[in-house]
Amino acid sequence: MTTNSELRSRQWFDATGRTGMGHRSWMRSQGFTPEVFDGRPVIGIATTWSELAPCNVHLHRVAESVKRGVWQAGGFPLEFPAMALGETLLRPTAMLYRNLLAMEAEELMRANPLDGVVLLSGCDKTTPGLLMAAASVDLPAVMVTGGPMLNGKYQGTDVGSGTAVWRFEEDLVAGRMTQEECVFAEGCMARSNGHCMTMGTASTMASMAEALGMQLPYSATWPAVDARRYETAQRAGQVIVGLVRRDLRPSAIMTRAAFENAIRVNAAIGGSTNAVIHLLAIAGRLGVPLTLGDFDVLARDVPTLVNLQPSGKYLMEDFCYAGGLPAVIRELDDNGLLHSGAMTVTGAGIGANVADAPCWNREVIQTVADPFQPAGTGTAVLRGNLAPDGAVIKQSASSPHLLKHRGRALVFDSPADYYAVSNDPELDVDEDTVLVIRYCGPRGYPGMPEVSNVALPKKLLLRGIRDMVRICDGRMSGTAYGTVILHVTPEAAAGGPLALVRTGDWITLDVPGRTLTLEVADDELAQRRAGWQPPAPPASRGWTRLYTDHVLQADAGVDMDFLVGASGHEVPRESH
Ligand code: FES
Repeated sequence: MTTNSELRSRQWFDATGRTGMGHRSWMRSQGFTPEVFDGRPVIGIATTWSELAPCNVHLHRVAESVKRGVWQAGGFPLEFPAMALGETLLRPTAMLYRNLLAMEAEELMRANPLDGVVLLSGCDKTTPGLLMAAASVDLPAVMVTGGPMLNGKYQGTDVGSGTAVWRFEEDLVAGRMTQEECVFAEGCMARSNGHCMTMGTASTMASMAEALGMQLPYSATWPAVDARRYETAQRAGQVIVGLVRRDLRPSAIMTRAAFENAIRVNAAIGGSTNAVIHLLAIAGRLGVPLTLGDFDVLARDVPTLVNLQPSGKYLMEDFCYAGGLPAVIRELDDNGLLHSGAMTVTGAGIGANVADAPCWNREVIQTVADPFQPAGTGTAVLRGNLAPDGAVIKQSASSPHLLKHRGRALVFDSPADYYAVSNDPELDVDEDTVLVIRYCGPRGYPGMPEVSNVALPKKLLLRGIRDMVRICDGRMSGTAYGTVILHVTPEAAAGGPLALVRTGDWITLDVPGRTLTLEVADDELAQRRAGWQPPAPPASRGWTRLYTDHVLQADAGVDMDFLVGASGHEVPRESH
């Protein structure tokens, strides 16, 4: 147990003389009575709120519920802003700024008189960014994600955010939908506060936070507008005060066992490939040994249990009403696929948290005995001379007939180059072609954007073809689908073999065999390499310069080399 006198905040608020007066007096300008400095735990609430991040816009209100809980439990809550990363607006990609959020939040947590933190996130990058920060500071922490939007409703059917966008776009290009219908549909798709309500990256990372033990049971699935979202937030406020008193920190919760649980849960929910990168980055902050290969090995015996878009039919609201993530975790536990004793923010093991979790709808949450998709259909890790350090493919979002494929490459150095010709009826492409889109990696684009699932050439769409093999060193939205090989490592801009592919080369994909092969002889590749020039850096100054100078490749989580690891929460020297 941590006694009040051991709390780090005491080094600010318990100080005498000019120093203590400075710390307390200015805080009292907010109208706090002196009792708030009596030795109670000071709880920071990191809020990634912004009108520029619509998925997180309600977090300010969620913070009010957290504060209620902190006061109830005898703590002193203080909300502070952390970078809000809106996936849909930020260019060139929100991913360019995930590490900046992680760095900003880490420094704010350490530099301020905080004893514990509640992390409020929602949109894709805000959840991993805050978890990375909390891991590096290692102060007691609880996450509260903002929850998904209500199901989209369009022309009598449910439409999923993100997933429907890809379909609407294809329908528009193929003449099945008008521009006016698209504009109407976009309003139907996003009809409440919250993050994407498909099993995209935001829902996946919210589920990962719960599977890692960092947020309370059911937190990932309550809709953003559900009263229980706010109840959970209040409960989190109570819980964080207890965690400070027990000194239970992220490093004791996010252990190797917790990451193994998260990887298995990701397979069971048909989660986003982006979880691979984010979990690797979080593990890197904690010194937990986790590799790209672990995602393939650990997920192979886990079937997909949840029938959610983009792999399936339903949406997060349905998932919530069917029993939410605890029903999935319980099913894994009942079948020996979980480290049941892994510690969580409740103070109990994850298995104990979900021991009685019911399932109310077996169409949405299926069982290990009768799964939605069989074991081995999750994220696969491919290797070969085209991806020496690995690449990933989401099998459940791919077309089964393309998982073993041989085709000629059609190569583009950017998505823009491809889209400049993708509507050309004369484009030399057919359904067997392998589209290669490169220079989209962490350094190349920069920021490794979600551009890999380029829309199919119009010529093929008009023939009714809906999928083809695409290969890219970028990422794909968790809401997207298609036979797309992602995160090819090393990326082209770092001199990976992807940079050496030429239009007309044969490429063989063998997902069951886990290989990706460029059928070009080694001496020919060596010749091509001798003539290859790295692209000019995308920026000469600022964050982008720092980022491209230091960012690691996808197999290391795309963190910065100097941010891997932890600096802890030692109290810095006085400021005056
Ligand atoms: Fe924010 Fe999808 S755009 S979660």
